[in-house]
Amino acid sequence: MGKALRIAPSILAADFSRLGEEVRAVIDAGADWIHVDVMDGHFVPNITIGPDVVRALRRHTDAVFDVHLMIAPCDPYLEAFAKAGADIITVHVESGPHVHRSLQAIRALGKKVGVTMNPGTPVSAVESVIDLVDLVLVMSVNPGFGGQTFIRSAADKVAALRALCAGRPIDIEVDGGITAQTAPLAVGAGANVLVAGSAIFAGGAGAYGANIAAIRHAAQAARGEAA
Ligand code: DX5
Ligand code: ZN
Repeated sequence: MGKALRIAPSILAADFSRLGEEVRAVIDAGADWIHVDVMDGHFVPNITIGPDVVRALRRHTDAVFDVHLMIAPCDPYLEAFAKAGADIITVHVESGPHVHRSLQAIRALGKKVGVTMNPGTPVSAVESVIDLVDLVLVMSVNPGFGGQTFIRSAADKVAALRALCAGRPIDIEVDGGITAQTAPLAVGAGANVLVAGSAIFAGGAGAYGANIAAIRHAAQAARGEAA
């Protein structure tokens, strides 16, 4: 039995003027985690939100906050995100020269530890830190923007990671271009956490339940589970 399937809507695709309501709406619609994309206009060519927004959202739900830091350097901000209410903090292996230090700092803050890599970075880049993490995130688009197309080679990276993680209780998450059509590629290769922005926050709050269910059912079928 693999790790539980988790659907993590990325609030990057939500209405930023109503973020609290949007977070409550996707959780009520069946989402498991809330994926928070933090961008600095330096590591990636876009700017989003910081710890104050995470703190404000924390009042709206008890759901797991899965915080994806696309910032460099990341070390000076880890404590602020931990105190703001992040549950999982994921850093890019490309974001600095001392990834072990960043991962150990997240652990010392009492949070779940995640590491991720850009589509152009091989799985071998995280091999030496695999025993330090609870989660590995495979980027299936180049980070910075929502609404991009799933890069199919990400599925091969997931399969390589699944082999690397064998016997370890590590979540494998995929982020970027996830839809009901691409979710089976990620899950079939061994991913158990699916991030989706555009495919979930489409059509207004009345559609979130069906959007989440479509991804969940496609993923469950790929896992050989009954819907
Ligand atoms: C990209 C972000 C993703 C993105 C996913 O930099 O890390 O979380 O918001 O959005 P979609 O699902 O639209 O590709
Ligand atoms: Zn993300």
